[in-house]
Amino acid sequence: MPVISFANSKGGSGKTTSALVLACELAHSKPVTIIDADPRHPVTTWAKLPNKPENLTVITNQSEKTILDEIEQAAARDPFVIVDLEGTASRLTSYAISQSDLVIVPMKEQQQDAMAAIDIIAEIHRDMKAVRRDIPYAVLFTQSKVVAKSRTARFVAKQFRDNPRIETFQTEIHERDAFAALYAAGGGVRDLNPKEVNNLPSAIENVSAFAAEVIERLRANQANQAEVA
Ligand SMILES: Nc1ncnc2c1ncn2[C@@H]1O[C@H](COP(=O)(O)OP(=O)(O)O)[C@@H](O)[C@H]1O
Ligand SMILES: [Mg+2]
Repeated sequence: MPVISFANSKGGSGKTTSALVLACELAHSKPVTIIDADPRHPVTTWAKLPNKPENLTVITNQSEKTILDEIEQAAARDPFVIVDLEGTASRLTSYAISQSDLVIVPMKEQQQDAMAAIDIIAEIHRDMKAVRRDIPYAVLFTQSKVVAKSRTARFVAKQFRDNPRIETFQTEIHERDAFAALYAAGGGVRDLNPKEVNNLPSAIENVSAFAAEVIERLRANQANQAEVA
């Protein structure tokens, strides 16, 4: 049922990769639909490779006219719906945000990604006004260095982490071979060959922590809403 969108108008911020790893991880236990709403169709291309989980349905979005119906139908069918959005702010993006139980804003720890994240957060707030409900969102740092983070990276991340009005994921998606390898090998990180990918167990652990935090956030938001109602 919950709808989780990945939004940031900056290309390369890690939307598709984070959406894919989450979708595959959740699909280990429950049916998941991922809606590929990027006109370049990266998820649809990935789905043609081997190892797509059986539990995972990939819907290729047709246009902004169909996104609401696509989300509604998927949410009626599957326990999790994930929407991978395009790299520009658009009406389609707003429609998807308006239907989301959680918007994840992936960003690299860089100034340009940070500015784009701020823009999309402002957009989420406009969408909240339009639909007159709270839309939970959280920033996810992606492609972060496991060791020796640069001064800029630390500075950018701190700006977000220290801002009491912006939620941030505790878990970061690290920069790892395994995540880039998915686009060539297909499937999720658990399907990769440990002999062909550096430090695969760490990537698996990273994805598992991310999925657990997503679930935790969805539960907490649900509890908050129940309290308000
Ligand atoms: N955590 C990561 N580790 C290694 N490479 C990554 C990671 N996240 C993304 N990439 C690479 O960076 C590129 C852009 O990421 P992508 O997820 O497509 O961003 P977006 O969907 O926001 O445009 C992809 O080609 C992918 O291979
Ligand atoms: Mg993408």
